[in-house]
Amino acid sequence: MDSNRIIIFDTTLRDGEQSPGASLNVSEKVEIAHQLARMKVDVIEAGFPISSPAQFEAVRRIAAEVDTTIAGLSRANEKDIKAAADALHPAPKKRIHTFSSTSDFHILGKFGHDRYGKSLSEKRNTIIKMSYDSVKYAKTFVDDVEFSAEDAGRTDLSYLAEVIEAAIEAGATTVNIPDTTGYTFPSEFGKKIAELKKRVKNIDKAVISVHCHDDLGLAVANSLAGIENGARQIECTVNGIGERAGNASLEEIVMALRVRKDLVEYYTDILTTEIYNSSKMVSAFTGIVVQRNKAIVGDNAFSHESGIHQDGVLKNRDTYEIMTPESVGISKNKIVLGRHSGRHGLKARLEYLGYKLSEEELDNVYEAFTELADKKKEVFDDDLRVLMGDEVHKTDEVFELEYLQVQSGSSSIPNAVVKIKSGEEMYEEAAIGDGPVDAVFNAIDKALNINSEVESYQVRSVTSGREALGEVLIRIRNGEKSFMGRGISTDIIEASAKSYLSALNKKERYLKENKDLNEKEDLSQAI
Ligand code: KIV
Ligand code: ZN
Repeated sequence: MDSNRIIIFDTTLRDGEQSPGASLNVSEKVEIAHQLARMKVDVIEAGFPISSPAQFEAVRRIAAEVDTTIAGLSRANEKDIKAAADALHPAPKKRIHTFSSTSDFHILGKFGHDRYGKSLSEKRNTIIKMSYDSVKYAKTFVDDVEFSAEDAGRTDLSYLAEVIEAAIEAGATTVNIPDTTGYTFPSEFGKKIAELKKRVKNIDKAVISVHCHDDLGLAVANSLAGIENGARQIECTVNGIGERAGNASLEEIVMALRVRKDLVEYYTDILTTEIYNSSKMVSAFTGIVVQRNKAIVGDNAFSHESGIHQDGVLKNRDTYEIMTPESVGISKNKIVLGRHSGRHGLKARLEYLGYKLSEEELDNVYEAFTELADKKKEVFDDDLRVLMGDEVHKTDEVFELEYLQVQSGSSSIPNAVVKIKSGEEMYEEAAIGDGPVDAVFNAIDKALNINSEVESYQVRSVTSGREALGEVLIRIRNGEKSFMGRGISTDIIEASAKSYLSALNKKERYLKENKDLNEKEDLSQAI
């Protein structure tokens, strides 16, 4: 392989899905995976198969349907590795990604029990053996094995070098150095990679990878420092979503390398014109809104506000633009659909936006589209994206809004009546509230006999104009976990009811999928 080519390992569907509140169902994951493949991502980490039946199923379906290297995550134990191997089985190109914790913080925190050794040094030896054994075991299923040293950013360098050497000795073809807590500085992280290249004697037998988190806003800078010092794989996510402050953002890394090719000779094979569609799809399905001023894909990334800037750009785009919007797939050619657009027109536009539709899915979205087009003269791309999220990929909804009636005004007490369908049952209740939205939430709580903690509630309009679709994003908390719900409608009260039910549906799905697992296994444990 060309030594300047950087492998893009996308972990939107695994680390990205660990973003607080984000949870994707299997069909949304498959749709995103197709889009990632269209963007020419080299490796898609499709999930953590042992962690739930739904994760297993998502990895298995992506392995069967999507044509690029598919990776599945596993801890360093046989059961996890076997589950990853089984889920990946249908993929022509597959990778098992196994990891052990290597920093003292993690070793003492997760491997405290004496069975891993009494002293820190005994525990460290146990980790080396576990890492070696797990890579060897993974090699019995696939040739392509990646090993990650979790919290490598805070791991003692000499010890990290020993672990990495053992993993390569066992057959790891990629060794990943994660800055799990987003703690390091670019100069420090780059030096770590350079030192590993010097100290690990078999390092030439594996590709060095970096996986940086953004707790200090340095994930992209650290990833670039990694490649300048010898890494040839970057792990990243679309829109930079991921645990806590997120992961390194794919679009920022890819465009930094492309825009500054005068400075660095490294390049990726990413089809950059698919970046915008990927960003929009991930945002619509996860409900994680991209901040307006986000580099590359934010709404303001290519808008010029001040008169001086506008004038400069009109005379010559290079004055204030270092890349064109077209290079990331933002098209000036805005196609607007409407009531008279047929199925073919809708299908063609959705395909252009990156969606792969079965006939049945097209039927669903077409029906929703015609309803929307009746309410709204012009249907824009962003309307279609939310329709896709709202209508096509809904699966196994436990609760559905059947009926809603709300009364409110400046001199009346807001009150709401809701009717909710759940399987064969129908639940109906009325309630009052501080405002119409509160009244709706209270009525839903009463009907379902629940009382959920609403952590955040946001309303925004999907496109512009008085008849625009309103999107409501809500986050509810259930113990340690939060769930994001999204609802759309031209009526924001109805969108609020739908978003609350969507969050409740995600909670139900999560509880169902994790019920068996919680009974059998504790994922917080190391092995
Ligand atoms: O951040 C991290 O260390 C990870 C590993 C599992 C690679 O996500
Ligand atoms: Zn991570």
